[in-house]
Amino acid sequence: MPLTPEQVREHIPFLEKYVYLDNGATTPVPLPVQEAMSAYYNEYLANVERGAYSVAHEAHERFERARENAAKLLLGCEPGEFVFTRNLTHASNIVAYALEHPLLTTKDGTFTLSEPLVDWKSGGKKNIVGTMLEHHSNTMPWLRLAHHVGAEYRVVRPSNDMVLSPDDLLEAVDGNTRFVAFQHVSNVLGSIHPVREITRALKEAYPDIMVFIDGSQGPGHLPVDVKDIGCDFYGFSGHKGPLGPQGTGGLYIRKEVGERMDPMEVGGGMMADVTLEGYTVRTDAVGRRFDAGTPNIPGMIGLGRAAEYVAKDIGMDRIDERERHLAQRLIGRIKDLPGVKIYGPENPEHRGGVVTFTIEGWLCHDVSNALDDGWRILTRSGHHCCLPLARWLGTIDRYGGTTRASMGYYNMEREVDLLAEALESLTGG
Ligand SMILES: Cc1ncc(COP(=O)(O)O)c(C=O)c1O
Repeated sequence: MPLTPEQVREHIPFLEKYVYLDNGATTPVPLPVQEAMSAYYNEYLANVERGAYSVAHEAHERFERARENAAKLLLGCEPGEFVFTRNLTHASNIVAYALEHPLLTTKDGTFTLSEPLVDWKSGGKKNIVGTMLEHHSNTMPWLRLAHHVGAEYRVVRPSNDMVLSPDDLLEAVDGNTRFVAFQHVSNVLGSIHPVREITRALKEAYPDIMVFIDGSQGPGHLPVDVKDIGCDFYGFSGHKGPLGPQGTGGLYIRKEVGERMDPMEVGGGMMADVTLEGYTVRTDAVGRRFDAGTPNIPGMIGLGRAAEYVAKDIGMDRIDERERHLAQRLIGRIKDLPGVKIYGPENPEHRGGVVTFTIEGWLCHDVSNALDDGWRILTRSGHHCCLPLARWLGTIDRYGGTTRASMGYYNMEREVDLLAEALESLTGG
């Protein structure tokens, strides 16, 4: 039987003290995930990769099983295509680095640069396409890349209901577009974008375009199948949905692309051979090429258990359905309150468990503080690391940003109702 929200709450003692509606920023780590991490410390502590003795072997096996669980259950890809990362930000920076630096490897005793992943120089000026809705971590790496390689950075705005469409993206790209980055789900607007349709439309029009998807608000909130989407890269954070610990995340890299990527970090674990003249990097599994140094072993073991917890113990469809339901319940109760404005898609089919709003005459931080002081309701306020979007929405100057309630499977209808009552009280509605 799948775990009910009440059963999940028993695994998250923190929820007894607060109404936690800040799941878009970070999610709690349930006890079974914490136990998997403690088991590593208490029962089979050893470094991975290089051990001959039995416990080292067990630690290595469990670490790789965690990779397999995270890859298959969260993204639908093979472990060899899956890179462990610290978070989404790490994932986007790994990709940006490789787009700028050709693979460096040793051939016949001397360093040689391979063919670059993207030829930014020949032909006309190349361009990189992003969108207005992105988090800074899915904007800054590409802005910097564009600057370094002399490419233009183009920005797409959604033309309808704050949801990106294939046509919105197709309008921005052309034969000189080499890379497109967009999100799966907006952490501000809750928009769920049709990433499969967008990716396929882009690849059909221009097969050379590489697609990066920011899935920070994806896996753990809804089912994801990167093969079906058809993207080249899909990154996520382990602590924003999958219920894994902070400092964990993942990046899917399409195999053919990964084989040609230069890793941002070099050192132990990711090399095939090292001499005093040069080195070669691992080619046995693309994912491991990016694991320089001792990884966050307990964290990744926790992420692997967390992947089982959300995908098997609960079920991704159930999570998706419940978070959407809670968001719609809240919207229904607060949308007509005096001075309240809700941002994001009006069509419930396009919105996940995020409700972001402003109240006329209130600064967003004052709303968040009042909810905490009066009702112990925890919400996030500010620009949510999406300053260009906040400026575009016009919320920064007027309200200092927006206030956001973001749902988890374990949130209860009574908690959403309490937030609605609190907002009624604040607005006099
Ligand atoms: C859509 C989106 N992208 C990127 C990030 C960055 O994630 P992290 O800080 O875990 O790297 C976040 C974090 O809130 C996010 O919501």
